[in-house]
Amino acid sequence: MEDSYGRTIDYMRISITDRCNLRCRYCMPEDVRWIPMEEILTYEDIAFICRESVRAGVKKYKITGGEPLVRLGCEELIAQIRGIPGVEQVTMTTNGVALKEHLPRLLEAGLCGINISLDTLEPERFRQITGFDYLDRVLGAIEAAISTGLRVKVNTVLQKGVNEDEWHSLMRLAEKYPLDVRFIELMPIGCGQKEAAVPNPWLLEEMRQRYPGLIEDTRVHGNGPAVYYRVPGFLGSIGLISAIHGKFCDRCNRIRLTSTGEVKPCLCYGDSFSLREAARSRDAEAVQRLLRQAVLKKPGTHCFEEPGKITEKHKMTQIGG
Ligand code: 5AD
Ligand code: SF4
Repeated sequence: MEDSYGRTIDYMRISITDRCNLRCRYCMPEDVRWIPMEEILTYEDIAFICRESVRAGVKKYKITGGEPLVRLGCEELIAQIRGIPGVEQVTMTTNGVALKEHLPRLLEAGLCGINISLDTLEPERFRQITGFDYLDRVLGAIEAAISTGLRVKVNTVLQKGVNEDEWHSLMRLAEKYPLDVRFIELMPIGCGQKEAAVPNPWLLEEMRQRYPGLIEDTRVHGNGPAVYYRVPGFLGSIGLISAIHGKFCDRCNRIRLTSTGEVKPCLCYGDSFSLREAARSRDAEAVQRLLRQAVLKKPGTHCFEEPGKITEKHKMTQIGG
C-alpha cells in the first residue's frame, strides 16, 4: 500500500495482548487495569485481518504486547500468519522472561527473528526498573535464542539517572554475541512522560570517543527506523532509534494493530480505525477499506520532539511500541 506521501506500507505491528509479566516503570502504570478479554481480538480475528492486510500489500509482521508470550498459544498465531501466501516474515518483540521455554515452538511456528528488551545488566537495577528479579532469565533467553541461530536484537531504553551509565556494558553484548544492540530514545507516551530520556546524539558522541573506529553500517538490518553502526571486532552492530532527535518518518513503512483491533496510522497520534466489528463479522471488504483509510491517514511526520502536540493517550503496553 502506498500512503499519501509516497511511502510503501508493507509492515504491520500486531499487539496481541496488553498484559505483561513485568512492570517497567516507563511503560506500565502502577494501577494498571487490563482490557477486558471480550474486547480483545481472537487469534482467528487477527489471522483474518492479516489475510486481508497481505492482499493490501503487507508482507512483514511483528508480534508485540504487552508481553506477547503471556498470551496462550501465540505460536499458533505465528504459524497461521507464516502460512498465508505472500507473508515474508514474522518476528516478535519480547521481554525475554518466558522466552527460553517457548523457543522450540516459536521456531517450529516459523518465527524469523526476535527482539528482546533489556535495559540493565545489574540484577538490583533490573528489579527497580521492571519490578521483578528476572535478569538471569532474560540473559539465559538471549543466549538460548542465539544458540538456535535465530536473528536476535536487544532493545535498550536508557533513562537519565537510572541506567545511562550502562550504555557501554550493554553495547558490549554485541561484542560478545552475534546480535544487534539498539538504543531506543524514550518516547513521551503514557508513563514514558514521567521519565527523562537520554538523547541519542549524546550517546553517539560517547560511542565515538570510546571507539574512534566506529563506522556507519549501511546494510539493511530489519524493517525499522534504526541507524546502525559497526565497531571493529564486534560480532553485531549497534543501532540508534532516535524518536526524538532523528526524524525517520520519511522511511516509515508501518501501521499498528492494537489488541482491541484499532489500526493506528502513527505511534504519536491518537487517531485510529477500529477493525474489530469488521473482523468479527469476517467482512473482508470493510477490513480492506479501513486498512486503506488508516494508511491514507498516516501523517508525514511524528511530533515526539514537541510533546504538547502528541495526541496518543493510550499506554505503550496497549500499543505494543
Ligand atoms: N519509549 C521508548 N520505548 C518504550 N518501550 C516501552 N515504552 C517506551 C517508551 N515510552 C519499549 C520497551 C521495549 C519495547 C517493546 O518498547 O523497552 O523494548
Ligand atoms: Fe512489559 Fe515491555 Fe512494558 Fe516492560 S516495557 S512492562 S516488559 S510491555
